[in-house]
Amino acid sequence: MDFKNLIAHCKEYGFIFQSSEIYDGLSAVYDYGPYGVELKNNIKQYWWKSMVQMHENIVGIDAAIFMHPKTWKASGHVDAFNDPLVDNKDSKKRYRADQLIEGYAEKIEAKNQKDIEKAREKFGDSFNEAHFRVTNDRVIERQKQVDAVLGRLAEAMKEGDMDALGAMIAEYEIACPESGSRNWTEVRQFNLMFNTQLGNIAGEEGKLYLRPETAQGIFVNFLNVQKSTRQKVPFGIAQIGKAFRNEIVARQFIFRMREFEQMEMQFFVRPGTEMEWYTYWKETRLKWHKALGTSEAKLRFHDHANLAHYANAAVDIEFEFPFGFRELEGIHSRTDFDLSQHQNLSGKKLQYFDPELNENYIPYVVETSIGCDRMFLAMISNALREENVPDAEGQDSVRTVMKLHPALAPVKAAVLPLLKNKEELTNAATAVYDRLKISVNCQYDEKDAIGRRYRRQDAIGTPYCITIDFETLENDTVTIRERDSLEQRRIAIADIPRVVEEGVKMENLLLS
Ligand code: GAP
Repeated sequence: MDFKNLIAHCKEYGFIFQSSEIYDGLSAVYDYGPYGVELKNNIKQYWWKSMVQMHENIVGIDAAIFMHPKTWKASGHVDAFNDPLVDNKDSKKRYRADQLIEGYAEKIEAKNQKDIEKAREKFGDSFNEAHFRVTNDRVIERQKQVDAVLGRLAEAMKEGDMDALGAMIAEYEIACPESGSRNWTEVRQFNLMFNTQLGNIAGEEGKLYLRPETAQGIFVNFLNVQKSTRQKVPFGIAQIGKAFRNEIVARQFIFRMREFEQMEMQFFVRPGTEMEWYTYWKETRLKWHKALGTSEAKLRFHDHANLAHYANAAVDIEFEFPFGFRELEGIHSRTDFDLSQHQNLSGKKLQYFDPELNENYIPYVVETSIGCDRMFLAMISNALREENVPDAEGQDSVRTVMKLHPALAPVKAAVLPLLKNKEELTNAATAVYDRLKISVNCQYDEKDAIGRRYRRQDAIGTPYCITIDFETLENDTVTIRERDSLEQRRIAIADIPRVVEEGVKMENLLLS
């Protein structure tokens, strides 16, 4: 399904709404609706269960969003958490200079892609893309241009050279997508942290930041947690919580938001062992994604070419969103940078005594960090599709179905009396619903023809539909319909909880 339709579907079926929509919305801020919140909670539960509760050496916390302002000085966010900003004087629109330049490179690459597709059509099965890329003069020339542009961009970003970015925008004659003009301001650094003021302290002293990552709440609590839980290195601390970034350009729905949620885990290890753990967490996290049934072709690793000053290795797990492969999760080997910085600025020792080595040291950290909202978008875009299926008369019809893993599905089962004005049927259906709602999130629906009710449940990803009909009244059986196979079979009322609970339980995911 294309991206526009996916966004419309999320609104129509109560997954995601634009924040403050009645006031024309707040850009890059979204609210989760009744089905959205269920799906999001299930994603969080899967992460928490597998990362925290299934690792005896990982514990969870829930730190506050506000932290002492020195936290962000120590972490480097006050000085270096910037994006290069440029304004178009005619349209008054703001852009990230690096994204404008990347867009320029993408346009050149798109021309290559067009030539490749043409050649593929012409040569059919015998077409070899890799060979074509290294032998076609036009494609080679354009690829050189792309490499040169991206090389210069990477260098300028690494050096924080705003003038170089401005020069590139001028040299490549990049125009504002809105006004078409090349009337740009200078490129300048823009700090992405939101700030606010503490009630009882005026001026700079009382300046507070909304956390741009949850990780720092873990670092500053490192010793509190280690001592209170008597964990030994290697061990991890995990947390799920809101983070805030004043993104300059926030496009692509919930992919880049100004208020979002992270699921982060900092794993504290002996210095020198961090690369082993980095490899371990790379593999473990990829396995976590694959267990959901996401096809391997839609997931890939992308090593960071330019490492942040505190990292000695970093990789993204990328997912193929409807707009291409993009970062879904980051795995970073952050050395002892954060703990050392907090130790220096706070004057409090943040060392660990290793009883086996009989030695004090500041542990190294390997971090796994995934955006909950991005995971949500990945799951929806992977699951939502249109399919040709036979209707009640056996004719071809199109259904929109969300093939989410049953453990993530917002509603696990729908209980449907065949007719709404037959009290015997609605009473029997209510009794089934009242039992089932104790163990799983389910729905009672009696409105419209049964076929339409099935379609509504398909559209929100409900794995099971249970229909109560006249035969139910005779022999205490119901029809249970499976979302993916469309198979319908009769089972006893007494068996419904077992069948549904088995089919949707989180263990199916955790053990795969
Ligand atoms: N503590 C490390 C850290 O915050 P990051 O790569 O900046 O690293 C981690 O962010 C993850 O958070 C990303 O992989 C992405 O899934 C999510 N994320 C970051 N910025 C986001 C935004 N503006 N909107 C939604 N998700 C975001």
